[in-house]
Amino acid sequence: MILRKKLIAGNWKMNKTPTDGVALVAELVTAIGKQTDVDVLVCPPFTGLESAGKALEGSTLKLGAQNMHFEANGAFTGEVSAPMLRALFATHVILGHSERRALFGEQDAFINKKVLAALKNQLRPILCVGETLAEREGGIALKVVQTQLEAGLEGVGKDQASTVIVAYEPVWAIGTGKVATTDQAQEVHAFIRGLLVKLYGDSIAQKVRILYGGSMKPANAPELLSQKDIDGGLIGGAALEARSFVDLVKAAAAVK
Ligand code: PGA
Repeated sequence: MILRKKLIAGNWKMNKTPTDGVALVAELVTAIGKQTDVDVLVCPPFTGLESAGKALEGSTLKLGAQNMHFEANGAFTGEVSAPMLRALFATHVILGHSERRALFGEQDAFINKKVLAALKNQLRPILCVGETLAEREGGIALKVVQTQLEAGLEGVGKDQASTVIVAYEPVWAIGTGKVATTDQAQEVHAFIRGLLVKLYGDSIAQKVRILYGGSMKPANAPELLSQKDIDGGLIGGAALEARSFVDLVKAAAAVK
């Protein structure tokens, strides 16, 4: 029995108009729209969610957002809520991405509220954690990851924990071309798994998918994805073109 199906998630960030997004999804649907060995997720910007969702209808591809507010509605100019994402048939939402943390001041307690709101609305959160280069060089990478993970999951009960997806994204590897070595990545993934065991027990922890993110490309994916605790990828740059994203999905499907 496969305990954890691999997940390849494309984080388009602030790229692609709705029209460009539909064109990309159409190519993906043709190439991998029937893929069932691997879960495939695309996360367009808010403006592209509805059209991308229509373009992937009838395929196995899934739709996610890159962020959301924790309140359902109200005076929060510029924000979007979980029920709004659900209304567009999104099933996943990326939360606490390092760009949100670094550029928009998001902190653990704030991200935690979003995780809880996502779960309450039947959206699967992809909780991002990861250390900066200074933190890694200072020898505190694991400590930072632990703090972000535990704070992000505060109040998430055993009944919902296995629907959470964790993404380990070393900040120094995002968009830089510097990928963590397989050993560096697996070490942190195993550490996260261990923390999940402590929080939720072994059988739940074994069900949680832990994605790697940070310059994952078709060339480095097979080795990363064959690690015991690396259950997929959160892909930025390589998700913007059909060919590289399709190759990543194929690489994940090829891992035994
Ligand atoms: P990258 O981005 O693949 O371009 O490094 C990954 C991410 O930030 O999710």
